[in-house]
Amino acid sequence: MSTKRPLTLLLVLSKIRKVKPLKIRAPGRINLIGEHTDYNSGFVLPCAINREITIRGKERKDKKVVLHSLDFGEKIEIDLKKSFSPRGDWADYPLGVIKEYLEKGFFLSGMELEISGNIPIGAGLSSSAALEVATALFIKTLNNLKIEKTELALLCQKAENSFVGVSCGIMDQFASLFSKKGFALFLDCRNLSYSYVPLPFSGYKIILADTKKKHRLTSSFYNQRRKECRQAAKLLSEEAKKKKLLEIKSLRDTSPEIFQELKGSLSQVLGKRAKHVVEENERTERAVEALKKNDLISFGNLLYASHNSLRDLYEVSCPELNLLVEEGKKMPGVLGARMTGAGFGGCTINLVKEETTDKFQEKISLSFSAAFGHRPDFYLCETTDGASFKTTR
Ligand code: GLA
Repeated sequence: MSTKRPLTLLLVLSKIRKVKPLKIRAPGRINLIGEHTDYNSGFVLPCAINREITIRGKERKDKKVVLHSLDFGEKIEIDLKKSFSPRGDWADYPLGVIKEYLEKGFFLSGMELEISGNIPIGAGLSSSAALEVATALFIKTLNNLKIEKTELALLCQKAENSFVGVSCGIMDQFASLFSKKGFALFLDCRNLSYSYVPLPFSGYKIILADTKKKHRLTSSFYNQRRKECRQAAKLLSEEAKKKKLLEIKSLRDTSPEIFQELKGSLSQVLGKRAKHVVEENERTERAVEALKKNDLISFGNLLYASHNSLRDLYEVSCPELNLLVEEGKKMPGVLGARMTGAGFGGCTINLVKEETTDKFQEKISLSFSAAFGHRPDFYLCETTDGASFKTTR
């Protein structure tokens, strides 16, 4: 029997698969606890939320890529045969992903992508990571590329580090790809091993309160904090060597007890940054234990402790975020609250008893607008699964 026919059939089938329009969704995330720990090889506990980026699109027969943002009403076009550089706008996230694929030696077809989304931009809910992940999954699916999910997350992170120019950690991209509805993702950022922790939030809601103060990581202190952490780890490591203690490669390697012993080697500022990271890692592990035991009181208290540390030691909060947390704390029915994401603006997460949610919003709105002259936005959020795709015809 001729072997030609199955081969031809396969080719035809693969062509059909390619021209079918695709729809990809990739969610934003909140981080329950474990803030500014990912780039210190530490622990994080994010979950994806029901706000997402959607990409609809298909293959093109030429080598052009057309990116159409429905929300910005903008279309940009590049030629895969020519080099391209960052533009300084939304398109850098998908372009960065394309560039990373090309640099890894993948062969990409031309394509058209229609992008839309409902993740508030600059609110600390990882709209950029969701856009990267949606693009990466779109390209993978369209071109039938062999690339594992973990590698995909790393590729997206690299796109943001190298092309967009923000030295973000791995949390957001990982959360957008790996999250599971009803669970938090407990991720060890050193080796990217993870487990799912059930969220025993029945009777409670997670409400996001958005300061509407936009953060932009590139122009913020984010890269500076990373540098401070590297410096602190280096100094602690030298001190540990002198004292013949353990090897310290990053702040993750320091327990609160060992930190006490070594902290004399740090300046006041570096000492504060390192203390936050060391204790936040421990808090994250404790938060996982609290969730496993259904102990929402302890979990809520850990959220408050995390916020205080981000405010006083890591110094990435702002008056708007602090007020939201302080006002929430005064209300019965609020178990815990903290800023989420990089900080300098964006949202707080609040764990609020279901029957208190309206009152919570009213009261917080009043105090917030009295202080800052505008009302915060609120989003009742549900956890959701990580990014996925379907063919639309
Ligand atoms: C941003 C970064 C993440 C992480 C958080 C802070 O969201 O993209 O990698 O560092 O800030 O926890």
